[in-house]
This record gives sequence, C-alpha cells and structure tokens, in this order.
Amino acid sequence: MSNNSPVIEARDIHKTYDLGDIQVKALKGISLEIENGDFVSIMGASGSGKSTFMNIIGCLDKPTRGEYFLDSNQVSSLDTDELAEIRNIKIGFVFQSFNLLARTTAIENVELPMIYNNTEAKKRSELANQAISMVGLNGREHHLPSQLSGGQQQRVAIARAIVNNPSIILADEPTGNLDSQTSAEIMGIFRDLNKNGKTIIMITHEQDIAQYGNRIITFKDGYIVEDKRQQSQN
Ligand SMILES: Nc1ncnc2c1ncn2[C@@H]1O[C@H](COP(=O)(O)OP(=O)(O)OP(=O)(O)O)[C@@H](O)[C@H]1O
Ligand SMILES: [Mg+2]
Repeated sequence: MSNNSPVIEARDIHKTYDLGDIQVKALKGISLEIENGDFVSIMGASGSGKSTFMNIIGCLDKPTRGEYFLDSNQVSSLDTDELAEIRNIKIGFVFQSFNLLARTTAIENVELPMIYNNTEAKKRSELANQAISMVGLNGREHHLPSQLSGGQQQRVAIARAIVNNPSIILADEPTGNLDSQTSAEIMGIFRDLNKNGKTIIMITHEQDIAQYGNRIITFKDGYIVEDKRQQSQN
C-alpha cells in the first residue's frame, strides 16, 4: 500500500466561475496535501471558496487551472464518466441539508449508491443494514426522511456516504442545521470513522466542531491563509 503518498494532492488550483459579463475568481491558487487518515477541518468566511474547493476534491467539479491527484491519479485528465466512477468508489459525501430523497425510506436512501454500481440486491440490503447499525439507526429503516429528526436524517446521510466503504469522507457543514447536542453525536460518528481509518475533510463555521480535526485549514478570498496541526479533541 502507498500509505506514504498523500491521498489528496492539489497543486496551484484555480477556479473561476464565468458568468458571461462577470467572472468570479473563487480559488486563486490552492496547494495542499492531505495524508491518509487525516481529519481536516476547513474554516473561513462565507464566500471564501471552501465548498468550491471541496467540490473539486470530490470530483464534482473541475478546476479552471492546476493539478489534482487523488490516490496519486491525475484527476484533471479524466472524463465525466471516469470522474463519476472514481467518486463512487473512493468518496462519500455528507451535506448540511442531508440531501436525502424525500419519498424514499432510510434504508432505500442508503442503498442508492450501491444501485449505481450494480451491487446485487441481497448484498445491498446486507451492507445497507450494516451501515444503518453503524450510525445507530436500527428500528428506523423504513421511516421516510420527514418522519426522522434532523440528527437522524444526517445519520442516514452518513450511512449512505459510508456504504460503499470509501476511503475519504467529505462533509460540507454537516452540523450546520443541528443543535449542539445533536452536533456532538454526529461528530462522535465522524470521530469513530476516522479512528477506523477514514480520511475526513469537513467544512465548518464552528470552532468547537473544527476541534475534532487534527488539522485546521483556513480559507480567505480564495487562498489558504492558515494551516495548523493540533491534537484532535477525542
Ligand atoms: N456555481 C457558481 N457560479 C458562480 N459563482 C459561484 C458559484 N459557486 C460559488 N460561486 C462564488 O464563488 C465564491 C466561493 O463560493 P463558495 O461556495 O466556495 O464559498 P464558501 O466558502 O463555501 O461559502 P459558505 O461558507 O457561504 O458556504 C463566492 O463568491 C460565490 O459567490
Ligand atoms: Mg460553502
């Protein structure tokens, strides 16, 4: 295993959104390496480029300029289908607004990523049930998102993110819609996933949530202005 090479390596990443009459320079040269097993918190003011950067490292979007390597593979050169495939295998996403399908039960939401990669039905249900247990949602499998609390919905989203056993979890303000008690519970799940070897990259506006990371990176105006390592709060 190539444990010594970074799982993520960004070299001078720029992203400019072209809106016709104006151009928004969202990222102005981001260079960064993230090691296997890191728990990285990303902070910074609204509009500083955090989500833009996360979308690029998650292969949801491409940089305007610069190079990006995921597990030493040059991502910038892949086409859309190849990007979707690498994303499905290597990365799990968690968002602030949960992004669950509304008319679909918890267990079905968790099974979705495995439908995309053609896992057979029996295996799908087995793995989905494992993921549901891991996030502590036994007994809620057949509830719709509207029948679950915010924290429970985020647990479903985390189960969906981990069901394909990705090595990297990207979370964009995962506790942004949750109260502090529920946030702490959700962060406990991320901490356990990290202890079990997942690399976690999480955007947050909250200092106490950022403390779960072993590294805090601060964005400002499309640049990284601070990158500090620390003992994670575990
Ligand atoms: N699809 C888009 N088209 C045009 N401009 C965009 C687009 N997405 C983001 N931007 C702009 O790029 C800049 C960075 O946005 P981004 O969403 O990355 O910020 P952020 O740090 O995640 O902010 P927040 O904390 O509010 O989520 C902002 O000026 C934003 O208006
Ligand atoms: Mg954002």
